[in-house]
Amino acid sequence: MSIHKNPPSIPSVLFEGVQKRFGKGPIVLDNINASFPRGSFVSFIGPSGCGKSTFLKLIAGLIDPTEGKIEVEGMTPANAREDLFFVFQDANLLPWLRVRENVELPMKIRGESKKRMHEQAEKMTELVGLKDSLRKYPWQLSGGMKMRVSIARALSIKPHIMLLDEPFGALDEMTRDKLNEDLLKIREVDPFTAFFVTHSVSEAVFLSSHIVVLSSHPGRIAEIIEVPFDYPRSAEIRESQKYLEILAHTAHSLRSVKEEAA
Ligand SMILES: Nc1ncnc2c1ncn2[C@@H]1O[C@H](COP(=O)(O)OP(=O)(O)OP(=O)(O)O)[C@@H](O)[C@H]1O
Ligand SMILES: [Mg+2]
Repeated sequence: MSIHKNPPSIPSVLFEGVQKRFGKGPIVLDNINASFPRGSFVSFIGPSGCGKSTFLKLIAGLIDPTEGKIEVEGMTPANAREDLFFVFQDANLLPWLRVRENVELPMKIRGESKKRMHEQAEKMTELVGLKDSLRKYPWQLSGGMKMRVSIARALSIKPHIMLLDEPFGALDEMTRDKLNEDLLKIREVDPFTAFFVTHSVSEAVFLSSHIVVLSSHPGRIAEIIEVPFDYPRSAEIRESQKYLEILAHTAHSLRSVKEEAA
């Protein structure tokens, strides 16, 4: 089943009374109730080990909740898997494949035609600004370029939901800022709902429509901060008073949950 047929009133992701523990271990996520509309850009911030990656894995259907219900576009996460793509911190490129082949890989797995794979690989690498690197190998690319390839690869199958787990965590601030701006531009061309884990407050505020602040042990939603800027967003919003206010509020919220965790 494809999510295209679902009415827009169905949220992209819905959590109802969700709890997660691994085996007999401690409760990792507890009493999670949240609903995010389609087209949201949702960031998760919180202390290390509070359950951010676990949150994404639950949405992806890679793990099941211990209690409660999760719906992705009105379906069980397992049934929605075709419409999701996971991007990890490490770009996860196959070193023996050129950029073009790396980007084509998910399409190949899905049985797309050669013609379609070629066209999409070119279009998507152009979108991330790397069309000239199609014949290069991963070792010939910088960290930022590798991440761009990873994003092009995700975009190539046109996922409706993109799960990004600290995708820019290993990059310097300037590269990260530029990738943040480009990610929002790409989303204007090929819209997707995003669930994004980060440790950077400024990145969360710049990108997100919603920032989920998680406390730890067990992970609970401490606060969901709504960021009122429309998309597309330009780099200049970082200098606005409103942006700085939300930044301060988010930093404060994060500090509170970190102090609790300490
Ligand atoms: N497969 C698993 N088996 C057992 N415990 C797990 C498993 N995956 C995660 N955990 C535990 O769940 C908790 C949350 O882990 P998670 O990876 O979601 O944290 P995180 O918020 O992403 O942390 P970080 O910021 O360090 O990436 C941790 O205590 C971790 O040890
Ligand atoms: Mg994590």
